[in-house]
Amino acid sequence: MKPRGLVVAGLLAVLMGDTAQSQKFDILVQDRAIVQRCSTQGLPRSIAVGMPGGFSYVFDPVACRLAFVWFGGFLDFRPEATGRGGGRLPILGTKRSVGTAESPLRIGAADQEPMTIEFDGYRREVATGIPTFQFRVDGVPIEQRVLSFGRDQVTVELSFASVGDAPRFYCLDPKATTGIAVSDGVQVVRPGVIEIPAEESWAQIRLSLPHTAETFARQQPTTNGRLLYAIHCMACHTLDGGKRIGPSFNELWSGPRVVTRNGRSEEVVADEAYIRESILKPQAAIVQGYEKANQMIDITQTLDVEQIDALVKFLVSLRLEDGK
Ligand code: HEC
Repeated sequence: MKPRGLVVAGLLAVLMGDTAQSQKFDILVQDRAIVQRCSTQGLPRSIAVGMPGGFSYVFDPVACRLAFVWFGGFLDFRPEATGRGGGRLPILGTKRSVGTAESPLRIGAADQEPMTIEFDGYRREVATGIPTFQFRVDGVPIEQRVLSFGRDQVTVELSFASVGDAPRFYCLDPKATTGIAVSDGVQVVRPGVIEIPAEESWAQIRLSLPHTAETFARQQPTTNGRLLYAIHCMACHTLDGGKRIGPSFNELWSGPRVVTRNGRSEEVVADEAYIRESILKPQAAIVQGYEKANQMIDITQTLDVEQIDALVKFLVSLRLEDGK
């Protein structure tokens, strides 16, 4: 078994006076996301999240906002291991702004600063450790999850417990991004202002950041299919039938689907080959009803053959779980 979660090595090296091996103080993200409260980059109360695959971010629980992101390693634990504590930990990468406004979420009107922001905590997905932050803006309960589809890509997902009677807005500085894409029903009403209408209970905001040539430091590639799903597919495909940008994977095995292939409609029963094709050539067969959806990403740029095999196996295993 590979060790999971937090790996803090190197204490022995300190005792022996060996400080050259700084790498040993890194908190390594393996196959579960890590959530670490600390002080970093001038934010005394940070919640740092290291996602498997080399994407990390800081959530600020005071303003309840995504503060910044970085690609590379997670955190350098050396000050905790060798100092008097206090939890000031350097990040192992370059801090990247995503343009988030001081209070990005507004209820009712885009230019109306919230009266109250209350942090309620976070829950974590059991299988992957990925956190969902829970907070209230002017009394409206909001859940937020942050994901990345790959280098220079950041996705902010917002869920609202109930459909309200006021629109909500997410504000950011558009100059920090090279592109903003949003899920159906959600609109960029003016540069940097995204409107989530009152009747929408879910929104996905995909930000493209300026390209950098940063290498992923000491990245741990994973072949855990469920985890690869969580990192790369979960944002658009749920497992429980919930509406997202693509069809829910719980419908994969429930019966034939109608797809458009070469401009013609045909019925397909999902099998391993169909799933593999959907991943490798997402545009070959488009599921009926999803013609206008945000296109599926080309994952072959990010994942290798072994990782794609693991994903296919995971999707096939859902059929067995369902007993279908
Ligand atoms: C940006 C959103 C998005 C992401 C991310 C995404 N997909 Fe999709 N996916 C779609 C859309 C939209 C469709 C339906 C249109 C089509 O068939 O291409 C789809 C269709 C599929 C289908 C066919 C589903 C069916 O019911 O027939 C499979 C299988 C699939 N995706 C697998 C994946 C896997 C595996 C990943 C992660 C590596 C992934 N997708 C990531 C948007 C996405």
